[in-house]
Amino acid sequence: MTVRDIFDTMAYGPAPESNAEALAWLRKHGQTFGHWIDGAFTKPGQTFATRNPATGAELAQVTQGTEADVALAIAAARRAQPKWAKLSGHQRAKHLYALARLVQKHSRLLAVLETMDNGKPIRESRDIDVPLVARHFYYHAGLAQLMASELPDQHPLGVCGAVIPWNFPLLMLAWKVAPALAAGNTIVLKPAEFTPLTALLFADLSREAGLPRGVLNIVTGDGDTGAALVASPVDKIAFTGSTAVGRKIREATAGTGKALTLELGGKSPYIVFDDADIDSAIEGLVDAIWLNQGQVCCAGSRLLVQEAIADRFHAKLKTRMDGLRIGDPLDKCIDVGAIIDPSQLAAITALVDTNTEGTTYRAATPLPQGCFYPPTLITGLSAASPLMQEEIFGPVLVSMTFRTPEEAVALANNTRYGLAATLWTENINLALDIAPKLRAGVVWVNATNLFDAAAGFGGVRESGFGREGGWEGLLAYLKPAIPGKPLRPIAAFAEPKSPETAEIDRTAKLYVGGKQARPDGGYSKPVYGPRGQLLGHAGIGNRKDIRNAVEAAHAAKGWARTTAHARAQVLYYIAENLSARAAEFSQRLRDLTGTSGTAEVDAAIDRLFTYAAWADKFDGAAKSVPLRGVALAMPEPTGVIGILTSDEAPLLGMISVMAPAIAMGNTTVIVPSDPFPLAATDLYQVLDTSDLPAGVVNIVTGPHADLAKPMATHMDIDAVWSFSSTDLSRQIESASATNLKRTWVNHGRALDWFSPAAQGRSFLRQATAVKTVWIPYGE
Ligand code: NAI
Repeated sequence: MTVRDIFDTMAYGPAPESNAEALAWLRKHGQTFGHWIDGAFTKPGQTFATRNPATGAELAQVTQGTEADVALAIAAARRAQPKWAKLSGHQRAKHLYALARLVQKHSRLLAVLETMDNGKPIRESRDIDVPLVARHFYYHAGLAQLMASELPDQHPLGVCGAVIPWNFPLLMLAWKVAPALAAGNTIVLKPAEFTPLTALLFADLSREAGLPRGVLNIVTGDGDTGAALVASPVDKIAFTGSTAVGRKIREATAGTGKALTLELGGKSPYIVFDDADIDSAIEGLVDAIWLNQGQVCCAGSRLLVQEAIADRFHAKLKTRMDGLRIGDPLDKCIDVGAIIDPSQLAAITALVDTNTEGTTYRAATPLPQGCFYPPTLITGLSAASPLMQEEIFGPVLVSMTFRTPEEAVALANNTRYGLAATLWTENINLALDIAPKLRAGVVWVNATNLFDAAAGFGGVRESGFGREGGWEGLLAYLKPAIPGKPLRPIAAFAEPKSPETAEIDRTAKLYVGGKQARPDGGYSKPVYGPRGQLLGHAGIGNRKDIRNAVEAAHAAKGWARTTAHARAQVLYYIAENLSARAAEFSQRLRDLTGTSGTAEVDAAIDRLFTYAAWADKFDGAAKSVPLRGVALAMPEPTGVIGILTSDEAPLLGMISVMAPAIAMGNTTVIVPSDPFPLAATDLYQVLDTSDLPAGVVNIVTGPHADLAKPMATHMDIDAVWSFSSTDLSRQIESASATNLKRTWVNHGRALDWFSPAAQGRSFLRQATAVKTVWIPYGE
């Protein structure tokens, strides 16, 4: 070939990256690995092969972790934890800093090994994965340094278990290990069975970094090893992977008191408005869906393009697709690498081949033999098409058109997931109008797939809960310093031997959609005071009443869009009206519980003031991400929250959870104390006269044990909180797996509702989810 030929064709020649160093490292370990436990490799046990997806060649044998292996690793982590937590933040920061330096020092080795084990183009592992890993450790060195002064009331959880997927093996390790260690925890991490090698190399490097023994432990193996880790006595599970496995983990950890964060699947919309910079939007799309062969949880896999430009956009996109180069991932000129495993290739193929709708376009680019799938675009699908709803996890983009921004939002949100969203428009008003309306944890404006350690990442709905990155990510590895005392169940006062008959019927109804409603079942129960006096009757709500209340709560969701100032005004007004009737409420509490209610009513009024104050002060942040632009971390309301309130301090306990929830713009379905329901039902008139829109607070009285499940399984409830003295934590957490709603339960521990611990930021955090909106500056 002459220079002229090359000039004429502009064809790329091969530019292979050497794999010599990586092979040498594998050889040094005899291409056979045990686990990394207590600062050393264990003797290999029963092993399985890890292969290069691009060639099918075996790279090494790794050990299938057994329950005994997991137990050894946990024991090592447990031994190491107190000493690690006792180090000063500065000392932990130095360790994390050393890890960051070593990642940089060995960056090429890590990138090459990652590409060999995972099949992603070396361009990506070299320029995206590994630099982000280093950045993550630097950033968390900083958090460790600042933790003591910035989060003085927080303690590490103890030993964390982490289970990670194969799509970003080293990066996901960094996302778990860095915050866990920064916070003073130790960790046992299980890499994915397809991609264990960079975790083992990282473990090797941790020795070079002088990380104390047992602080980091790696146990390799498949899903059984993962399940063993989840079942073992750890204090937290951090999981990234499929929604199906996330659901299993939610069920397996229910009621154990283990903290849990889940980063699951997605079907993220990529919205292109007709005024978008089309060429940039197409380049963005290449990153959105062909990065890592589309095997990305937040891949922009659902293209929504405005009708007027759809044909032009699709035509340009096809031309761009034809220019993508697929092949040897170690070739520096390759855009699209290999699919992780033949099983994944088969899954992608099956999903696409069973589709009967629309038009399928495959990139006209040479496809090598082996585990490769061509960049694919499917247009003309309907919103209900399985390909529009299911995560394909491959290089397949599905596309629909829309006409109006409202339609774009409706289509974008028409998914059970809520991980990320991308939108392209040159109109800033439109962008900033749409971004808050998208149900997603991350929104990219005129950019896509931007990540940084300072910016929280994570989903809503069935994409999971919890954030990784930023202060919000660190908090997922911490807990309040003071644990509550064990909570004793509180029973209602018993019916006396010769109960009096009520002179007049004083049956408190339910409160649904701003109206008093009779319970669906038509049952009520008498409520007695400590001396056997009949205080009234309370309705016994059932599943149907919960359903009605949820409907009312949904109808009231405009509350989220009222200004924080307006929400504060309503809370002040409730406080004022409660204050006007303080004597009556105090007397009611005395009648119900036998102890003076004066202090409790005062505290409830104080608490309402607290959240009126917080309503416009629980600020977001503009994160310092390394790009010209901002990443706005905006606390958004969680949605509809179902709450079982406390039996101790029945009025204060209820106000303490209702107030932060509504201050942040949520709507609520509240099941008040069952033994002392009348404290809550008296509140109806107070709420009625305080300008609170109908449906923001709905109250359904009844037994906690009966109403917890309908709330926890309800698909339209976004979170369930329980402070009940009936121990329902396991039941609620387990049932919440249906739609992976967030839960906040007391695990049978008491909270002193009069103490400062019963208010403030921890409540506000539960009432909100951080949405990170990335807005690059400039033309
Ligand atoms: P997966 O969710 O099965 O695997 C993720 C990790 O969980 C692996 O380390 C695996 O060994 C472990 N695991 C599996 N079963 C477990 C259990 N019962 N308990 C504890 N740990 C368990 O994902 P997989 O099989 O690799 O991929 C299947 C599909 O999941 C993909 O096609 C894709 O749709 C989705 N996925 C989504 C990811 C994301 O980041 N959102 C990442 C990986 C896969």
